Amino acid sequence: FILEIDPEDTDKGAYPYYMLKEIDEQAVVARKIAGHYFDEDGNLQGIPCAVTDTIQEADRLYIVAAGTSYHAGLIGKRYFEQWAKIPTEVHIASEFAYDQPMLSEKPFFIFLSQSGETADSREVLDNVKKQGYPALTLANVMNSTLTREADFALPVLAGPEIAVASTKAYTAQVLVQAILAAALGNPGFDLKAELAKVAVEIQAITDEKESFKKIAESALKDQQSAFYIGRGLDAAVALEAALKLKEISYVQTEGFAAGELKHGTISLIEEGTPVFALLTQKKTAGLLRGEVAQVAARGANTVVFASESLAQDGDAFVLPEVNELLMPILAVIPAQLVAYYATLDRGLDVDRPRNLAKSVTVQ
Ligand code: AGP
Repeated sequence: FILEIDPEDTDKGAYPYYMLKEIDEQAVVARKIAGHYFDEDGNLQGIPCAVTDTIQEADRLYIVAAGTSYHAGLIGKRYFEQWAKIPTEVHIASEFAYDQPMLSEKPFFIFLSQSGETADSREVLDNVKKQGYPALTLANVMNSTLTREADFALPVLAGPEIAVASTKAYTAQVLVQAILAAALGNPGFDLKAELAKVAVEIQAITDEKESFKKIAESALKDQQSAFYIGRGLDAAVALEAALKLKEISYVQTEGFAAGELKHGTISLIEEGTPVFALLTQKKTAGLLRGEVAQVAARGANTVVFASESLAQDGDAFVLPEVNELLMPILAVIPAQLVAYYATLDRGLDVDRPRNLAKSVTVQ
């Protein structure tokens, strides 16, 4: 069954923190997104043909975002390139705003934003409009600057996200990018059916909170630094996983492409350093297993979250499996829960971490 919680309800209810409620809401949000963008016959809906027509005139997509939304864009790139066959770049808004790269002949811009008010992203949208390029905003808050000022806007439908650490907006942005890419090309599988599976498996993971509470306590107790590593899509999820942990628990955490560790950063590994490995991509699973062994040989406390068909004895958690390209939606949930429990352990305010605002409306 799927928890009947209402992602639109801004009352914490029995939840100690909004973040935990919003993590739990992800299963319901996934179903809501599928229901909004697919009709009962499984046909896509809710995406104006002006959007798809305009994108199809483009020769390159530029995804522009900040923080967690930027991390969601790193996943979306894969869908646009593999399914829609459109070369896609992902850029950090604050960099793109002042160091705009050489653009293609016919660029199309996609802005990802939970709040729709991020100043860095708004700066880029202003520049893009001045140059006369088309732009679409995928946002959680639809009546916002980025949705109003772009040519097009699509909702990610996560419902109000109160906790500063973004969780359900990230998975919602990944899902809506997959749906948009499917509207532009062909995933090669029944995306609607797969999204139904994703919702069920999100629930299966969020039902295992006790496991992640124990993992967080054992791996992160008295630790002030940690790593998340992965390859391919899991390297992109590792960035998001690291941001979750560091921004609310203040544990210095790096999200790292596992293959890159040997080029210097591995020197940071010492006895007991927590290294979480996200292992869901078949093609590079063997290489990543080698990198896990490498850091373990240097004393790291390795914690592996592996998808079912790639799991081995000793892995900390086995992820239920969906289409490999959608595994980032499942792989991020253990990281959200580990961040939550590590922060609780430290007696910190999960929803309101120091120095942070929910929407960064200054550059
Ligand atoms: C993520 O947990 C943070 N709250 C932050 O990085 C956030 O994702 C970033 O500020 C972008 O905000 P936006 O999605 O509202 O544009």
